[in-house]
Parts: sequence; C-alpha cells; structure tokens
Amino acid sequence: MNETKEKLSQSAKPIGFWGRIIARLMAIAHRTIYKNVAAALNMQPEDDYLEVGCGSGIFMKSYVSHVRSIAGLDHSKDMVKVASHYNRKRIEAGTAEFRHGDAAQLPWEDEKFSATAAIGTFLFWLEPLESLKEIHRVLRSGGRLVISLGWNADDGLNHTKHVKKYGIKLYTGKEMQAMFQEVGFSESSITYSKGFMMPKLMIACAKK
Ligand SMILES: C[S@@+](CC[C@H](N)C(=O)[O-])C[C@H]1O[C@@H](n2cnc3c(N)ncnc32)[C@H](O)[C@@H]1O
Repeated sequence: MNETKEKLSQSAKPIGFWGRIIARLMAIAHRTIYKNVAAALNMQPEDDYLEVGCGSGIFMKSYVSHVRSIAGLDHSKDMVKVASHYNRKRIEAGTAEFRHGDAAQLPWEDEKFSATAAIGTFLFWLEPLESLKEIHRVLRSGGRLVISLGWNADDGLNHTKHVKKYGIKLYTGKEMQAMFQEVGFSESSITYSKGFMMPKLMIACAKK
C-alpha cells in the first residue's frame, strides 16, 4: 500500500497508532470546515447534538461544549476511544455518549436529537441514503442536519483517480438536495466557501 492510499484509508476508518495521530491532525486541517459547520449549526444551549463519523470528537469539545447533550458515533472503535477521551468530563457529567457503529444503523431512538452533523465523512459512506434516513429518524421535527463535503462534484477538481482508487463518492449540491428531499427533509440549502486544500468546500444543510 502506498503512502497516499494508507493516509486515505486512515481517513475513511482511522485505526491503531497512526489512525489516532491522523485523527488529531485532521482536526487541525479541518479548522475552516469546523468554523463553517459551527456557523451553519448555530448551536443553542437547549440543543441535543449528534455527530456521525465523529472521529477524534475534537469538534464537539471545541465548538459545541455549551449544548445540553452531545453524542458521537464512529465505525472505528479507536475513534470512539479518542472521542471519549477528549470529551471525558462530559461523559462523567452524564451529558455525552460515544458509540461504535455505522451511519446506516444509528443506535438511538426516534427523535432524540435536535441537531446533527457529519464532517468530512459523508463521501466515505457506503449507504448514503439509508444513513440519511437514519439521521432523519433520530432528529426531532425542526431538527437540523449539516454535512460538510470538502471534496465534491461541484468543486472543479478532477477526482477520477481518488474515486477509482479509494471508492469514495463525490456529490453535487443538487444530488445532496435530492437525497434530503427523498428521505423527508422539508428544507435544504447548499453553500460553498474555501477551505484548506478545498477550492469549493460544500456545506449542505437540511431541516426536518
Ligand atoms: C475524515 S474522518 C473525519 C473525522 C471528524 N468528523 C473530523 O472532522 O475530524 C472520517 C470519519 O468518519 C468515520 N466514518 C467513515 N464512514 C463511516 C460510517 N459509515 N459510519 C460511521 N463512521 C464512519 C471514520 O471512521 C472517520 O473517523
């Protein structure tokens, strides 16, 4: 496996020593994304927040510390451990939980959350529609979803090699909105800005 592929597969599912290092580095590289996602989420103290594909959990510690409760899910057991470590004070206080699992099968009851985000992870999901259905299910009426797509099919870059080699999927803003509508979200919007190594960072938002 060459170095780039190793790094990319670690982005899709960070594991082991290098996975833990890469997850922390990702939090640095994702600073611009975090700011954009936080602005789009507009988190309030009464919010119950879920992050799917939470990785290190650093976004939650840095940007959503003021909300009522936080929860994170990741399909890497190592990331569940790292996120639990960073947010250990909230776990001790009973206002945070981190679970191991897949985005397509969320281990929470219907309408548990008021806000959800998926940061730098959606392009890896093998079952995007099933996963969006699950997010819609666990959100309350009026609940918000924010998805960041640093690489996307509107950004003007040629991703052919990445898609072929790593099996990621690139979406246009229109495709995102069509999926949101298909699973039952009532409103959606797409905005673009610049991010680190991302000429057209997409922020896709939906409301239940
Ligand atoms: C590039 S990292 C981003 C991590 C974090 N959101 C951040 O911005 O720092 C992608 C994360 O999504 C997780 N992931 C990818 N596919 C997933 C899936 N289907 N279900 C749950 N987690 C997933 C990976 O394990 C990894 O931690």
